[in-house]
Amino acid sequence: MTVDLSVSLGDVSFKNPVFVASGTFGYGTESNDLVDVSQLGAIVTKSITKHPREGNPPPRIVETPSGMINSIGLANIGVDKYIEKMIPVYEKIGTHVITNIAGFSIDDYLHVLEKLESSGGNVCGYEINVSCPNVDTGRMEFSVDPKSTRELTKALRSATKKLLILKLSPNVTDIGEIAAAAVEGGADALSAINTLFGMSIDPATRRPNINTNIGGLSGPSIRPVGIASVYKISKAVDVPVIGIGGITSVKDVIEYLLAGASAVQVGTANFRDAAIATRIINDLGTYCEENDIATICDLIGKVESYD
Ligand code: DHB
Repeated sequence: MTVDLSVSLGDVSFKNPVFVASGTFGYGTESNDLVDVSQLGAIVTKSITKHPREGNPPPRIVETPSGMINSIGLANIGVDKYIEKMIPVYEKIGTHVITNIAGFSIDDYLHVLEKLESSGGNVCGYEINVSCPNVDTGRMEFSVDPKSTRELTKALRSATKKLLILKLSPNVTDIGEIAAAAVEGGADALSAINTLFGMSIDPATRRPNINTNIGGLSGPSIRPVGIASVYKISKAVDVPVIGIGGITSVKDVIEYLLAGASAVQVGTANFRDAAIATRIINDLGTYCEENDIATICDLIGKVESYD
C-alpha cells in the first residue's frame, strides 16, 4: 500500500507532517553528519533577529525530572549574516526551510522579514516567535494581547505573500482568542505551543538553576498542554495548526493530528537524538500501512470528542 504523508499549509505542500522545532535544530545544517535532513517535512530555524545576539549568560539549560528548562535569550547570528551564510545553503538542503523570526517591536520583526524577502532566498515561509519567555523581563506583549498579535500579523502580512505562521504561547488565559486575532491579521497557519514558564531551584545553594531564574519548560510533560491547545485553536479558527510540545514517538504525532494539527514539530527530543524526527517519519509510514490509512490528512481533527 502506498501511503500519502503529504500535508499542506497555505499554498505550500510538505512531503510529510513532521518538522523540527525552532531552537532545537540550529540553522538546520549542524546535524548533517547524523541525519538526512532532506527526509524532514521541514526545518524551522532558530529565531533570527535584527541584530546578532550572544543570548543570556550560562547556565541557560537545565534538566528537571519533568522536562527541560531553557533560557537561551534568542542567541543567533542576526539577519544579515543569516542571509549571507545560511540562505545559499538552503538551495541544496532538499526540504522546506521556514525561518523563525523574533523581535522586540513591530519594526524589528518587519525589518527581518523585509530583508529576507528582498534576499530572494529559498525559504518557503516564516514562523513568528511572539512568545519568547526569556527576554525583556518576560513581558511577551505580542503573545498575550490579541490586539498586539493582530497588529503585528497585519504588518507582516502586508510585507509577504509567503507562508506566514504565528507561534503562540501557552502562557495565556485563552489561546483561542489569540489565535483568532492572528488569523484576523492574516496568518496562514498557527503553531502551538511555545514553552511554558518554568523554574527550578537548587536547595543546597538556594539558587535558581538557570541564570534568568525563570525559563521555558519543554519536553514530554508539556505534551497534554500542547494537545489541548491545538484542540482549542482548531475549534476557534479555520486555518491549519502545527502541533508542538513533547513529541517523542509516532503515537504522539497521531495524538496531535487527531486533536486537529495538520503538521507537528519535534523539539526537545532532538537534544537527545538528532535523528529522532526522521525515525518518527519512517514509523509514521509504517503506522499508516498497518492501520490502512492511505492519506495522512484523513486523521486531521478526527478525535471522537465527548459532546
Ligand atoms: C527561548 C525562546 C523561546 O521562544 C522559548 O520558548 C524558550 C527559550 C530563548 O531563546 O531563550
